[in-house]
Amino acid sequence: MKYKGIIFDLDGVLCSTDRFHYQAWQQTAREAKAPFDETVNQRLRGVSRMESLEIILEKSPLTFTQPEKERLAEEKNERYRRLLQQMTPADMPAGVREALRALRAAGLKLAVGSSSKNAGFILKQLDAEQYFDAVCDGTRITRSKPHPEVFVKAAGMLGLPAEDCLVVEDAPAGLEAARAAGMDCAGVGDARWPFAPAYRLPDVTALPAALLGGEGARR
Ligand code: BG6
Ligand code: MG
Repeated sequence: MKYKGIIFDLDGVLCSTDRFHYQAWQQTAREAKAPFDETVNQRLRGVSRMESLEIILEKSPLTFTQPEKERLAEEKNERYRRLLQQMTPADMPAGVREALRALRAAGLKLAVGSSSKNAGFILKQLDAEQYFDAVCDGTRITRSKPHPEVFVKAAGMLGLPAEDCLVVEDAPAGLEAARAAGMDCAGVGDARWPFAPAYRLPDVTALPAALLGGEGARR
């Protein structure tokens, strides 16, 4: 086995929070008179809250001071957290839990590496904290993906060197962050990858077969 640890992105990999982010940002975009659609939303994947706001404001005809931007981001987060309260353990598919258990049973250490400051709250809502040896999230980093900080810190928390870790990502910014951290990446979902990830998988449920043998991997 090439790896000793696996670092999972959270949003879009272990669960789907896209619709909540989308809904919460939609109101911000309306206030800023900025266009907001799925293409803009895709660009927000993996990047921090404030950077996401800057992307949304790119097309706004209005100008905002820094304190106004902070208020917009805070209000978005309040809406987002209200929506997250609807999440339950049922929002983490049984197949994902099975995959995490199989990887742990194979002796791998597992971590979460997420830009989100809400990662702890989401893991709690999903009742998924027990699968991870470490959680490195937006509260522990100063630079968000594509900067490698979140993955470098997660590997440190696992006590592993970069080359022993595999990152699992759904976003181009995350793939770039993994490369910058010196880690292989398994890309899940249908993102337009800027370069080929080491593994390309439909979702996390295909990971045990890809790493531990069996069918389902496209290398
Ligand atoms: C990432 C999401 O996981 O977290 C981004 O992919 C989001 O879309 C980022 O902007 C920050 O999240 P939060 O919860 O701290 O606002
Ligand atoms: Mg993601």
